[in-house]
Amino acid sequence: MNLSFNRHRRLRQSPAMRALVRENHLHIDDLIYPLFVVEGKNIRNEITSMPNVFQLSLDYLLPEIEEVVSLGIKSVLLFGIPNEKDECGTGAFHDHGIVQEATRLIKKHHPELIVVADTCLCEYTSHGHCGVVEEGKVLNDPSLKLLVDTAVSQARAGADIIAPSNMMDGFVTAIRAGLDEAGFTEVPIMSYAVKYSSAFYGPFRDAAESTPQFGDRKTYQMDPANRLEAFREAESDVAEGADFIIVKPGMPYLDIVRDIKNNFTLPVVIYNVSGEYSMVKAAAANGWIDEKPVVMEMLLGMKRAGADIIITYHAKDVARWLKEEG
Ligand code: PBG
Ligand code: ZN
Repeated sequence: MNLSFNRHRRLRQSPAMRALVRENHLHIDDLIYPLFVVEGKNIRNEITSMPNVFQLSLDYLLPEIEEVVSLGIKSVLLFGIPNEKDECGTGAFHDHGIVQEATRLIKKHHPELIVVADTCLCEYTSHGHCGVVEEGKVLNDPSLKLLVDTAVSQARAGADIIAPSNMMDGFVTAIRAGLDEAGFTEVPIMSYAVKYSSAFYGPFRDAAESTPQFGDRKTYQMDPANRLEAFREAESDVAEGADFIIVKPGMPYLDIVRDIKNNFTLPVVIYNVSGEYSMVKAAAANGWIDEKPVVMEMLLGMKRAGADIIITYHAKDVARWLKEEG
């Protein structure tokens, strides 16, 4: 017999052979674990829509950080939930605000752990929008000043990376200038450059108590139907001096991750958002899917799509699973 075809299975015949030719890997160094910190004491509220994710007061934050560090996770992303909200979200840029205090506490005990601070106003504003509101509109330029103040106070508290998620135009220029003027020339900006207006953020808004009180975020976040708009967003953030580009959400936007990876040279970060997490947790709790292989396959798919870094609520579980596998 003289058949001619490729025998692909030669490279799949054993675990060692598959490992030898494996193209993409998940690595603990690439994961960022998000945390929700609240004002007050003795608070450890599980988010109903996000099993095993908690709002933590500072006294509970420290043991959580110990666990994160012992699992080998090297970066956390902080979101703050203040006791008081107001029109301008002043809690976001208060020097003793919740994120600032949490940052100081973490850096004091674990100076080696990278603290990424989310820079936005929606958790702090009474209307729940990411910027200043006037006559029912979210205003761009007046919001920039408040976001700069927020970023600078986060840097002053010791944040290693500033991650602005507000989607105002020009926020990278404004924040870069503000950080530089305040002497934080070495603090990088991880820009949510490509952030879609997504229904997958639902559970996060429960956790962060940041649901808009009127309307939606469609006037400042991107339309899920658009691809070229992602190039424009990334181009302007690169030109403005961003150090990382975030694409968000993750799973439904893997084509965009690949586009950004192929056309830009900055590290690409994917945000595996709350709704993606909650769907997996719900299906796993029902016994409908096998959680570990599903999560590993999803995150590996994100790496394959071109993500260098993954922000994920699954990070602690993944750290354990990677350890088990050696
Ligand atoms: C707010 C913010 C959101 C997320 C991160 N920062 C939600 C939103 O824009 O409403 C979403 C994260 C997630 O869903 O896990 N600026
Ligand atoms: Zn916001």
